[in-house]
Amino acid sequence: MKTIEEATYPITDYQDRPAEELFDRIVEAKKTLGSQVLILGHNYQRDDVIVHADLRGDSLLLSKLAAERSEFPNVVFCGVHFMAETADILSQSNQTVILPDLAAGCSMADMAAIEQVDECWDALSLFMPVDEVVTPVVYVNSAADLKAFCGEHGGITCTSSNAKVVMEWAWSRREKILFFPDEHLGRNVANKMGFPKDEMIVWDPFKTNGGNTPEAIHKAKLILWKGHCSVHQMFQPLHVDYFRKQYPGIQVIVHPECHEDVVNKADFVGSTEFIIQTVSKAPAGTSWVVGTELNLVNRLKAEQTEKQVFFLSPMVCRCATMFRIDAAHMCWSMENLAQGQVVNQISVPDDEKVLAKVALDRMMALS
Ligand code: 13P
Ligand code: SF4
Repeated sequence: MKTIEEATYPITDYQDRPAEELFDRIVEAKKTLGSQVLILGHNYQRDDVIVHADLRGDSLLLSKLAAERSEFPNVVFCGVHFMAETADILSQSNQTVILPDLAAGCSMADMAAIEQVDECWDALSLFMPVDEVVTPVVYVNSAADLKAFCGEHGGITCTSSNAKVVMEWAWSRREKILFFPDEHLGRNVANKMGFPKDEMIVWDPFKTNGGNTPEAIHKAKLILWKGHCSVHQMFQPLHVDYFRKQYPGIQVIVHPECHEDVVNKADFVGSTEFIIQTVSKAPAGTSWVVGTELNLVNRLKAEQTEKQVFFLSPMVCRCATMFRIDAAHMCWSMENLAQGQVVNQISVPDDEKVLAKVALDRMMALS
């Protein structure tokens, strides 16, 4: 893998270039590369980047596309680090996955480290034969080593669009689920399934036994890791109340990473792709308020001109890490690639890849 310093063209040459020039140069590099490159873009990606994507979607759709499009030797992934890792795990060994800026991480994914999950597993094993009783379920918003942990321990990955079917699968195999790193997604899905609240506990990795009594651990059927998305935690129930009061008849649609107090007040809950499809297919004249990342909502607002589309929070809720993938980094990685220089390759170590793929394949079989 070439580092930034070794690249034929240094990133510093790109950072002060005008937007129009970068646009034209990306188009040119894409033309030069032709069938050598596939550009995948997540729904939160900024406009000046997503415009170049061959295919866009939510995490599940992008994972599927990465697995299916083996004819492209290079995949430029416009999203965040865990998504590019998933693409690398699911793509063929002769394919190269590039993340235009390696600093595009995910604050939620950083809330669970493998050492902490190992510690949690060891702690649980003092109360029960953990590998027989607990299925680990990891949200794809996580590092590859956590997916590998799940592959090794009979567990599975999930995305926001298949979490329900994955949790049903997990409970049909073992009595308990350890769900990480997003407590909200796990809780919201369990709530929707009518799962009793007194059988859910939160595991705080910074406390002994996750901050739980032995009785609570024995009783729990769902152990939720204390983790969240810094973007989605900004949406509050009073924002929903405000819009309902100001715009009677408005429909509220939110992502399941929001707090349950917001989700419980919404009309629709689903993945980024579900949100886009639902609002896009709604009849003209309808009004919507959307609780997810700002780039997605602004695009929806601009495209759905026959509908009223609002952003649920009065604050700017932008995925700051996704935002790091800008036209300059994209142009830089594409022009280097056109010169035969791979920069910012995402390469999951082979041993991790094998086990992580076990967990991802289990999920893919259910989706
Ligand atoms: P989706 O799978 O719904 O695209 O969500 C990804 C994500 O990171 C939401 O914050
Ligand atoms: Fe991670 Fe939240 Fe950004 Fe999604 S929106 S990638 S969960 S930080």
